[in-house]
Amino acid sequence: MNQEIMTSAKAMELENQYGAHNYHPLPVVLDKGEGVYVWDVEGKRYLDFLSAYSAVNQGHCHPRIISTFIEQSKKLTLTSRAFYNSKLGEYERYITSFFGYDKVLPMNTGVEGGETAVKLARKWGYTVKGIPDNQAQMVFVDGNFWGRTLAAISSSNDPSSYAGFGPYMSGYLRIPYNDLSALENVFKENPNIAGFMFEPIQGEAGVVVPHEGYLKGVRDLCTKYKVLMIADEVQTGLARTGKMLACDHENVKPDILVLGKALSGGTMPVSAVLCNDEIMMTIKPGEHGSTYGGNPLACAVAMEALQVLKDEKMAENAEKLGIQFRAALEELQSKTDKIVLVRGKGLLNAVVINDNEDSHAAWDICVKMAEMGLLAKPTHGNIIRFAPPLCITEDEIKTALDIISTAILEN
Ligand SMILES: Cc1ncc(COP(=O)(O)O)c(C=O)c1O
Repeated sequence: MNQEIMTSAKAMELENQYGAHNYHPLPVVLDKGEGVYVWDVEGKRYLDFLSAYSAVNQGHCHPRIISTFIEQSKKLTLTSRAFYNSKLGEYERYITSFFGYDKVLPMNTGVEGGETAVKLARKWGYTVKGIPDNQAQMVFVDGNFWGRTLAAISSSNDPSSYAGFGPYMSGYLRIPYNDLSALENVFKENPNIAGFMFEPIQGEAGVVVPHEGYLKGVRDLCTKYKVLMIADEVQTGLARTGKMLACDHENVKPDILVLGKALSGGTMPVSAVLCNDEIMMTIKPGEHGSTYGGNPLACAVAMEALQVLKDEKMAENAEKLGIQFRAALEELQSKTDKIVLVRGKGLLNAVVINDNEDSHAAWDICVKMAEMGLLAKPTHGNIIRFAPPLCITEDEIKTALDIISTAILEN
């Protein structure tokens, strides 16, 4: 193939012409990444404050993860689950003891993890809880986001996710987020609920942090009404919020834990669903699966990605620098009425810009920050999420804060 010289303009033109228009990216064309930095095709360097929606918690192209990836990819990458492979069992033992569950079911994308959790909950509902056939209900919350399949968008109350794609999945109920009495009411009114699936902090909704005690309250109600507590930690998990899991902030253990994104350190889609035997063993051979799920390359990479988080104390770093980062943003908020709210935990943070959802203020601030060498993306029009790789240093946080303040104050 002819090597054509690629410029940012050319790369954007190609995506525009030949790719589906299902995204609205910032006009930056990235070509290289290392740690907290990415470079565009013209060689300009940026601090990455999105981390591929928290998939690159360990930093771009982490040397240990890349080296494991290369080594394993030279040996064996995919067998399908028609056969055993030499990495899967080792990985399953590793990740189940890492998070304290009996078993894991390996998948690829986050949404497949969520879908697997829903299937497990329904199966458990029929075979263990005794819900009559095809009567199982799942409870979700307003503002949830767990991906783009029909099962996922059927639970959404965001028209940009669901509108125009009906008909939708049945057996779903939705209640407000962060509302324990709504949860108890729905449980009381409906004996056929198999599971309650939610994010311990809502990422795509704009980093919405529930009140302290919510996670414990959810745990207690799920236990009381014999409903499976399913934590979607695809975005909040793996050290992002200052603990290995966001549920750890309240020492709460979900019945089903869904992980994805940073489970491969940003190298490939790897997701996992963890639970105990009473739930996992309700699915029998042939009833669920995935060609790539549990492939030896993913297994080797995921073990290294988890070990890197631990060895490099990334949760601790996220906790410490998150406190400093939010304090500085709150100080900035006191100097300007452009920021309505600062919220977050660890290094999953957001500012709400004083504007309505349809205006461009947050977008304009993100474009300005990009010009100054920091990448972040608005969500829901007026919210900017800040989620850098967790290997970021105090000095890099300070540099970022200078850029963020200038962009917001001067916009
Ligand atoms: C909480 C949560 N769950 C699930 C998903 C879906 O993950 P994927 O895009 O890998 O399917 C996302 C993606 O942003 C997410 O934030």
